[in-house]
Amino acid sequence: MLAATITQNTALWYASRATGVVSLILLSLVVILGVLVNRQARLPGLPSFAVTGLHRSLSLLSVVFIAVHIITAIVDPFVSIRAVAIFIPFTSAYQAFWLGLGAVAFDLILALIITGLARARMSRRLWRAIHWLAYLAWPVALVHGIGASPDLRGGGLRALAIACGLAVGGAVIWRIAGTIREVPRTERAAYTLAKTERGAGHPARSRGHDTHPEDGPSR
Ligand code: HEM
Repeated sequence: MLAATITQNTALWYASRATGVVSLILLSLVVILGVLVNRQARLPGLPSFAVTGLHRSLSLLSVVFIAVHIITAIVDPFVSIRAVAIFIPFTSAYQAFWLGLGAVAFDLILALIITGLARARMSRRLWRAIHWLAYLAWPVALVHGIGASPDLRGGGLRALAIACGLAVGGAVIWRIAGTIREVPRTERAAYTLAKTERGAGHPARSRGHDTHPEDGPSR
């Protein structure tokens, strides 16, 4: 009986840690794919709409893993974490600061989910502004993982955390470089007109500079 209880508790602890690591990997992929969608880039062998689909599907999957990570951490009797600490940062008696960062990342992700569901009823500008929170949620979740658990500070998991950091960092730098090269909004009309004149007879060539694949139909 005692052995069964210990095994069950250990399983919860391992489940929480394992799903934490998987959540981090999935979140990293979601951010990288989000950058690819924004830059209208493709993955080898996939059309660009598939990149958008993959971005959405992996976002949903990451939410499932984050939920399991948090629930197993709360249910696990090895440490006592009150449910309120999931949403309200820095209220956990156990590892207040590091779990507080986990709660901040979770709140940011909740904001992304809610605005994602209400997207049809929101202005495009507001939705995009809130979507920028994804760039904040990722490093906060990474620092939470590294701070809360010694696992990510050594061995194979440290290599994994570094690989995630390098991959997301590279994607973000590429994203920023793309923004710098973009024509400023105020100059776009003149730019598009000049391009259309140059490519007269090929209007398709001048399309697509002012739209974003995630934007949907303009209102
Ligand atoms: C975006 C949300 C989150 C992500 C991506 C995330 C990810 C991680 C990762 C990668 C770890 C290290 C796992 C390991 O041991 O190897 C971890 C540890 C942990 N996380 Fe999270 N986490 C998130 C939110 C939360 C929240 C909201 C809570 C609860 C309030 C929480 C509770 C914990 C606990 C208890 C640990 C283990 C601490 C220890 O080893 O003592 N996490 N998390």
